[in-house]
Amino acid sequence: RSWTDPSAVIHEKLLRKIGVIGAGAMGAGIGQLAANHGYEVVLVEVDEQAADRGRERVTTLVRKWARHKGMSHANESELLDRIRVVTEADAIADADLVIEAIVEKIDVKQNLFRTLDRIMSPETILATNTSSLSVDAMANATGRGRLVAGLHFFNPVHKMELVEVVRAKQTDDATIARLLGFVRAIGKTPVVTADTPGFLVNRVLFPYLGEAVLMVAEGHSIRDLDNQTRSFGMPMGPLELLDQVGLDVAWHVARSLDNIVSGLRPVLDQLQMMVDDGRMGKKSGSGFYRYRNGKRTAEA
Ligand code: NAI
Repeated sequence: RSWTDPSAVIHEKLLRKIGVIGAGAMGAGIGQLAANHGYEVVLVEVDEQAADRGRERVTTLVRKWARHKGMSHANESELLDRIRVVTEADAIADADLVIEAIVEKIDVKQNLFRTLDRIMSPETILATNTSSLSVDAMANATGRGRLVAGLHFFNPVHKMELVEVVRAKQTDDATIARLLGFVRAIGKTPVVTADTPGFLVNRVLFPYLGEAVLMVAEGHSIRDLDNQTRSFGMPMGPLELLDQVGLDVAWHVARSLDNIVSGLRPVLDQLQMMVDDGRMGKKSGSGFYRYRNGKRTAEA
């Protein structure tokens, strides 16, 4: 049975309120997208400062979207009213779906899943946006494995069409069907993947990105590499894509693939050197390129 067959989807709006944990690059994007499509969204952050930064991120995304769609001020305010950023997880206790988008550390994520399992209603679906960690390991921290799955968005969330719906060992069919319905309801294309390192997209993408990293280390021009792959038909070159994703995030994905995809060890070393140097890509102002106010200025 193919899960990409629309007839396999129970078309429901049963998911009404969405909780998102972490209002960083991904969480803010996911929250904004869900609110755009009519869901009530509550984002949870670690403290007030992080919540303020999250609010700013969400507001910027909403304003850009509103301008792009030619929305009236009233509709824009209505959209903003559907999104809250808080520091208390109690505010999501009645959410129908929780999407976790916090730091990529398994012990921190497992603790969070343990807490969510305790505070959420027994029927709430718990999803993780992890790129490189085992969804099973998070499901095992809960007593509701059938309701735990991966929901892997790509960066930037508002632009990227695909969402991987990751089926862990215990995830049941109803959970997969509801997540497929949700992904379609927010205007994205879902693909169901197994809970294996890199899922589907990163497993095929990383050998390509890794080769570009190694070519830079051999002395090839960053700009030429990006321009040439663009002219080959890619919407973005591999190095600008890595800067967009974040070199720390890319390092985690590459490490998770280390036993499966050969030749990634020297790529990990290169990425590690850059991260140690504070060069994490666009978000840190420098990666393969330099950035000022989010705009690229030069090769780093
Ligand atoms: P980020 O660093 O921009 O945001 C993470 C946010 O989570 C921060 O604002 C932090 O304060 C917050 N946070 C950390 N621990 C928390 C906790 N216990 N409770 C509440 N909030 C907490 O990270 P980003 O890039 O948004 O990544 C988030 C997740 O999404 C990671 O698992 C990452 O692997 C995954 N991901 C990232 C992609 C990317 O291109 N950046 C793409 C797809 C997935």
